[in-house]
Amino acid sequence: MQIHTTITSLRAALEGGGQISFVPTMGNLHEGHAALMRQAGGLGDCLVSSLFVNRLQFGPREDFDTYPRTFAADCEKMAAAGVAHLFAPDEGEMYPRPQSFHVQPDPAQADILEGEFRPGFFRGVATVVMKLFAIVQPQVAVFGKKDYQQLMIIRNMVRELNLPVEIVAGETVRDADGLALSSRNGYLTAAERAEAPRLHRVLQAIRQAIAGGARDWARLEDKAMAELAAHGWAPQYVAVRKQLDLQYPAAHDSGLVVLGAALLGSTRLIDNLEV
Ligand code: PAF
Repeated sequence: MQIHTTITSLRAALEGGGQISFVPTMGNLHEGHAALMRQAGGLGDCLVSSLFVNRLQFGPREDFDTYPRTFAADCEKMAAAGVAHLFAPDEGEMYPRPQSFHVQPDPAQADILEGEFRPGFFRGVATVVMKLFAIVQPQVAVFGKKDYQQLMIIRNMVRELNLPVEIVAGETVRDADGLALSSRNGYLTAAERAEAPRLHRVLQAIRQAIAGGARDWARLEDKAMAELAAHGWAPQYVAVRKQLDLQYPAAHDSGLVVLGAALLGSTRLIDNLEV
């Protein structure tokens, strides 16, 4: 695997290398990232990944400074997953001057769910992904369903700005007890880790209820929030939404997704299940 810290070096290496498939990351990789990379590897001739902890998508009280930086271990995992070129710029390379142009998604997509609790998050994500697409120029990019709203926003950005890249979704990878793999799981204490799969279980219960004909979304959501709160969580949202645009479903709608976010101690976990 070749490691490039500059745009010039990456571009020179990718010249004439065929169809590029791409997985952007912020590092601290786990099996979920490796699965996205293996999936992307089958979709092109040259697999590129990036590792950049993007300051623009962190709020002032979020964990930018303490976000785990595990470069050597990440490189090993990327190489094992078949990455041919890693783009690992520093902040000076990505933002040589304060970023004065941004990609601002519609508030109807970006200020709901995650965006309600993380103001500016999707503007930061969309802006850096747009820059990474311009730098790497992939034909295909793979994003995990774990970050369902991010996936939707990137798809819409690509469609509405006519970017020549196909967005492919990767399935969420879970531990045996159902907990979705996340870079932030490492923050959990042993007791919190034992409790953490409850988030997945409450979403499963909603999925089962919907499969059994339940259509009272608010009641299902409230019950799930109450169960989390009763077990020491600080739930932020549990929401039944339409997969396509994450807007409120009507009672007859199908193609739904149930999403949840909650704090367990000081760790914020998110998860979702398609229904
Ligand atoms: O999902 C992530 O790891 C990040 O949001 C991304 C897409 C790499 C942008 O920084």
